[in-house]
Amino acid sequence: MQNLNIYILAIESSCDDTSCAILHNDMVLANITANQKIHEQYGGVVPELASRDHQKNIVPVVNAALKKANIKIDQLSAIAVTIGPGLMGSLLVGLSFAKSLSMAIAIPLIEVNHMQGHILAHFIKENNEQNFPSFPFLCLTVSGGHTQLVKVNEHLNFEILGSTIDDAVGEAFDKAAKILGLPYPGGPLIDKLAKEGDSTKFKFAASHVPGFDYSFSGIKTSFLYFIQNNLQKNENFVKENIADICASYQAHLIQVLLKNVKALLKETGITQLAIAGGVSANSELRKQVKDLETELKIQTFIPKFEYCTDNAAMIGITAYYKLLNNDLGSLSSVPQARMSL
Ligand code: KG4
Ligand code: ZN
Repeated sequence: MQNLNIYILAIESSCDDTSCAILHNDMVLANITANQKIHEQYGGVVPELASRDHQKNIVPVVNAALKKANIKIDQLSAIAVTIGPGLMGSLLVGLSFAKSLSMAIAIPLIEVNHMQGHILAHFIKENNEQNFPSFPFLCLTVSGGHTQLVKVNEHLNFEILGSTIDDAVGEAFDKAAKILGLPYPGGPLIDKLAKEGDSTKFKFAASHVPGFDYSFSGIKTSFLYFIQNNLQKNENFVKENIADICASYQAHLIQVLLKNVKALLKETGITQLAIAGGVSANSELRKQVKDLETELKIQTFIPKFEYCTDNAAMIGITAYYKLLNNDLGSLSSVPQARMSL
């Protein structure tokens, strides 16, 4: 391990962000992401438009990452790419690009599972004083498409102990935002508006799911009825109460998320908790997870904002550990829209 000198170029294009990172071993040298604004006006990601934007963005993003890292293409040791889960057309753009580059300069291709990437983002190195989780740790992975409670036994050894049986918590944020007339993606806007609101003002129904699984679809529907009923009584209800609505709804989602986290920590005796995925950028969730350190006497790991939402650095770090295990990809691989951890 001491003398490793691996340079990985990583590409992430599973949804609506085109990202390229360069890593030297486990240290990130560049992580450049182009966000697609086009979807805002449609209230959600339009797959065909996402693929087209990836095609436009991929070469400039790769060039910008190489420039920032001050690396020439012939120094690269491997190309990493997200193979799934995600939107088929979006994945295809990244995978085709990565295969071509791998063939052109004759270096290995490494296929990365996007959800493993979110978790392993905790191992991205930026300096020598960082504190990494030790194994086993529990990771609450919360994104636009997934909500999972994962026991991480090793860098590439995962056990799912709980997951959503319907919608992801990111969808519960985004769909509520849409009902409130906010643009996509609504999660960050709800977070922002909630800061000025009273989180105890409104109450929402809890859904009862056995074990450590989650369900967000009923919560989302009860939110819709709550808004519709109140609008019938007062047509300015949303306008007059937007901050309190956001704060109360967000607090409810976080309470649902953390209930199972606490129960699982108790049941397993695990004393390290990490959060990952786009929703882990939520300021109230980050605060409440941090507070668990004193409440439960555990250690918590909260990613930098840059590594919460989709990024290629997390794909690069996962590829680094796969490369150490000699787990290489194949030029005949196809994207996986659905893929288990
Ligand atoms: O991980 P991610 O970037 O993409 C997927 O893999 O899905 O997660 C995107 C999700 C969206 O639902 C977005 O609304 C949510 O993360 N999100 C947030 C915040 N920032 C992003 N949700 C709540 N609060 C935030 N600050
Ligand atoms: Zn993601």
